[in-house]
Amino acid sequence: VTGSVGCVLVAAGSGTRLGADRPKAFVLLAGRTLLEHAVARVAGSGALGPLVVVVPAELVALAGDLAGVRAARELLDGNLVVVPGGPDRTASVRRGLAVLPPDVGSVLVHDAARCLVPPELVRRVSAALSSYAAVVPGLSPADTVKQVDAAGAVVATPDRATLRLVQTPQGFDRGLLERAHRAAEASGGGSATDDATLVERLGQPVHVVPGDPRALKVTTPDDLAYAGWLLAAERAASSLSDVQAT
Ligand code: C5P
Repeated sequence: VTGSVGCVLVAAGSGTRLGADRPKAFVLLAGRTLLEHAVARVAGSGALGPLVVVVPAELVALAGDLAGVRAARELLDGNLVVVPGGPDRTASVRRGLAVLPPDVGSVLVHDAARCLVPPELVRRVSAALSSYAAVVPGLSPADTVKQVDAAGAVVATPDRATLRLVQTPQGFDRGLLERAHRAAEASGGGSATDDATLVERLGQPVHVVPGDPRALKVTTPDDLAYAGWLLAAERAASSLSDVQAT
């Protein structure tokens, strides 16, 4: 790895499946926005230098002023900026990449919707960048996965042992990720549900490290309820270890 590790945190989605009255990253969980939870964990991992937060254009000023974002800016010695996103996730990542300082040699891309990402997972992905140019965290599915056609008929059942459910943060050599985004944009089919897909399209290898169930993507109201439960359990465990330490 040459240069520092930067991070693009994408939070510019509308999150319509959550059914809230505001964009998903601004929904509250235990009194804080999902964005603030994500920022605290990414910035607090100690694995990163500059952080770029990408939010809906009308919320740039508000996001920059959130208590949790200000605290992270301080923790990162001012190396945190908030910029407006684009029409889809891929475009939002691209806008974030465009403002990373020149000395940033590697990038983690993280979804704000994965607001409870454990800092260990951020460090694991970041550490793997010393051996691989593209790293994604993945979990083995508990369910059997079927491939289906448009009519709902099963086409194939891939061997479950070969499948991974992929999360973020995803880590990349900066030059490789920029090349992948440029190629996607030039081909017109510029959008993908994650960044690794764009690297795969270049024919470049992507390495999977173990993911973490706590990095779940909050998508539905049930996910939000479950995230609240996970956060409460995490806080109870840490106050228990405080008590045991005294
Ligand atoms: O829509 P989905 O849940 O896949 O979004 C994943 C992440 O991408 C979310 O954190 C969301 O805020 C972000 N996103 C974005 N800009 C968009 C759409 C999604 O930053 N236009």
